[in-house]
Amino acid sequence: DRSIKIAPSILSADFANFGAECRAIEAQGADWVHVDVMDGHFVPNITFGPATCAAIRKHIKGVMDVHLMIAPVDPYIEAFCKAGADIVTVHAEAGPHLDRSLQLIRGCGKKAGVSLNPSTPASAIEFVLDRIDLVLVMTVNPGFGGQSFIHSQVEKVRQLRAMIGDRPIHIEIDGGITPETAPLVVAAGADALVAGSAVFKGGSVDTPEVYGKNIAAI
Ligand code: DX5
Ligand code: ZN
Repeated sequence: DRSIKIAPSILSADFANFGAECRAIEAQGADWVHVDVMDGHFVPNITFGPATCAAIRKHIKGVMDVHLMIAPVDPYIEAFCKAGADIVTVHAEAGPHLDRSLQLIRGCGKKAGVSLNPSTPASAIEFVLDRIDLVLVMTVNPGFGGQSFIHSQVEKVRQLRAMIGDRPIHIEIDGGITPETAPLVVAAGADALVAGSAVFKGGSVDTPEVYGKNIAAI
């Protein structure tokens, strides 16, 4: 379905080749480029910060979708906005002031997203619906690529779709998305899918057509 956005996660790309990797996935049909920022504190893994995001930005023509798995997050929001993110997503669990974080993002002129860990209920976004452009449902515990999809989250997606109604808010899914799991969340109301290992597996910047096949299969 072409109305579903596919957002490959460069967490599964070659970290020494981000420029070429971003160009390759966009040429092969990626709608958004998903960028996972991890701090070794909110999640048990470390990736990179705003300077790397700014460097990557130059190689992305379309939407740069930045997923911040960091706490505290507020002190860094402006830096990631300035690095060229189009969508900045923070975790509902990252601090006590989600409403303020979302105001900071929109104050920088960017689209604002909220991500929910698997144990966080859909109701976490009930009172920020007028401040968000996207909700990112984690279908794995965040930190690593290549984990298995947590099926209990399909019901959460259904609840979010009912809560959001026809507001212009994307429901994006992140973790364990494959050709088998993608239809489950799309049927429940998702309209954007992150995929790391399922896009990059078996390919490289020298064989970008593999990425194209993988994207088409999702
Ligand atoms: C997990 C990240 C995901 C990850 C998904 O913490 O937020 O974006 O890259 O990887 P896959 O698609 O391999 O589960
Ligand atoms: Zn992510």
